[in-house]
Amino acid sequence: MKKHLPLLFFLIFPIIAFGQWTQSLSYYADKCNIKIGTAVGGVFYNNYDTGNAYDLTVKNNFNILVAENEMKWDAMEPSNNSFNFTKADQLTAYAFRTGKQVRGHNLCWHSQLPSWISNGLTNGIANGTFTRTTLMSILKNHITTIMTRYIGKVQQWDVLNEPFNDSGGTLRNSIWQQVIGNDYIDSVFVWAHRADPTAKLYLNDYGVEFSGGTKADAMYNYVSGMKSRNIPITGVGLQCHFTVSGNFNVSGLDANLKRYNALGLEAIITELEVKILKTDYTANSTLQLSNQAECYRRLIRLCLDNPNCKTFMTWGFTDLYSWIPGFTPAYDYSLLFDTNYAPKPAYFSILNELAVESQKTGLNDINDADIVKIQKLDNRIVVNSDNRIARCQLFDVQGKCLFVSESHSSTIEIPSNNLQQAIYILKLRMENGKIIVKKF
Ligand code: G3I
Repeated sequence: MKKHLPLLFFLIFPIIAFGQWTQSLSYYADKCNIKIGTAVGGVFYNNYDTGNAYDLTVKNNFNILVAENEMKWDAMEPSNNSFNFTKADQLTAYAFRTGKQVRGHNLCWHSQLPSWISNGLTNGIANGTFTRTTLMSILKNHITTIMTRYIGKVQQWDVLNEPFNDSGGTLRNSIWQQVIGNDYIDSVFVWAHRADPTAKLYLNDYGVEFSGGTKADAMYNYVSGMKSRNIPITGVGLQCHFTVSGNFNVSGLDANLKRYNALGLEAIITELEVKILKTDYTANSTLQLSNQAECYRRLIRLCLDNPNCKTFMTWGFTDLYSWIPGFTPAYDYSLLFDTNYAPKPAYFSILNELAVESQKTGLNDINDADIVKIQKLDNRIVVNSDNRIARCQLFDVQGKCLFVSESHSSTIEIPSNNLQQAIYILKLRMENGKIIVKKF
C-alpha cells in the first residue's frame, strides 16, 4: 500500500484541491516555468474584472492570453492607416494588471482582412490594385505600428499565420504572396524584429503538428531555410485543432518538437482543442471525456518533456463559447471547462501532470527565510533577496495583480498604504529563472 501512496495522492489531490486559488493551472504552470493559456473571444470584454465565473476562471487558471479575433487585421486596421486599439489595449492592460503575458494573433494572414485590402483580389487573383512596393509598405506599417504600441505588453507574436496550403506542401496564394512574392515571409519577420526586438516571433499554422506529414515537413524545411538565412524567428506555433477519436499521433508530434529544438527553435502549442463527435458523446459521454482527458494529458506531458515547448494554449476554455460547433456542427465539447464553467476530466489531467512536474522542478513555495526576506513596514513591504529579482508581483487572493516591478534589483519596495489586512501572494521571478511564491 505504502508504495501506492504517491499515486493515490495525485489522484485524490486535484479533487480536494479544486476551488482554492493555489490549485489553479497557472499556479502549477508558474512552478514548472511553462505558459498555460487560452484564447478569449468577444465575450471577454463584457466579463473581465466582473468577478463572475468567466472572469475568475480566466484569472485563476491562465498565465498567458490571446485574442480570438480582436487583434486580427480587420479589427485593428479597418481602413488604411487608421487603427483601432480599443480591445487590444483592454486585453493588454488586464493581462499586465493580473500578471499574465499576451500572445498577439496575428500580424499577417490571408484571412480576416478588411475590404480595403481584399479588394486587391478578384476571384482570388491579384487585380493590380496594389504594387509590390505599396503592399510592402502597408504590411510594414501595420506590423510596426501595432508592435511598437505593445512593446513589453505583448510578449509573443504570430507574425505570420497559415502561409501553407492544406496539401502539397506549397505556399498559399495569399494576396501577400501574389503581389509581393515569397520573400514577404522573410520581410515580415525582419520588420517585426526591428519593431520590438524583445518580442518572441512565431510562424503559426495548422495541420503541421506531426513529423512526416507533407505540410509539416514543408513548414519545417521552410523554417530551416529561414534559420540559415538568419531571419529572426523564435519558433513555430503548432495550432493543434484535434479530434478525440482521430488525428493525434504522439510520436510524430514528439519528433516534430525535437527537430525544431535541434534547429534552436521553439515549437509551441497555440490553438489546442480536442473535439468530440456529438453522436459519440451522446452514446457514452463518460468514455469520451475520459479519452479526451488522456489526449490533453499526453499533450501537456510532451510539452513538459520538451524544453522548446513552454507555451501551451487552448483555443477557448469553456464549451459555452467555442468556435467548434459553429464551424463543424457535428462536433463539440472540445475544451477544459463545460458550459457551466465546471472543470472537466481534461482539466484535471493537465492539473495532475503540472502538479507532478512541479514536484520535480523544486520551484515550490518558500518557507526558507534565508532566500527571500519580507518585511511589513508601516507604509511599505520590503522584499530582500540574495539574488536579483527579475519580476516581482503582488496578488490578492482573487488573483488580481496589485503591484508589478521589473527593476531587476535584489530589494523591492511595495507601497502598502492602500492594502487591507488580508492574505496576499508575492510571486518573484528571479534572474536565474526560479519562480518563488510566498503567501503572507
Ligand atoms: O463579428 C461578427 C459579427 O458582427 C456578426 O454578427 C457575426 C455573424 O456571423 O460574425 C461575426 O464575426 C465572426 C467572428 O468570428 C467573430 O465571432 C466571423 O463571422 C467568423 O468568421 C469569425 O470566426 C473566427 C475564425 O477564426 C475566422 O477565420 C473564429 O471566431 C476564430 O475562432 C477563428 O480562429 C482561427 C485562428 O484565428 C487561426 N487558426 C484557426 C482558428 C479557428 O478557425
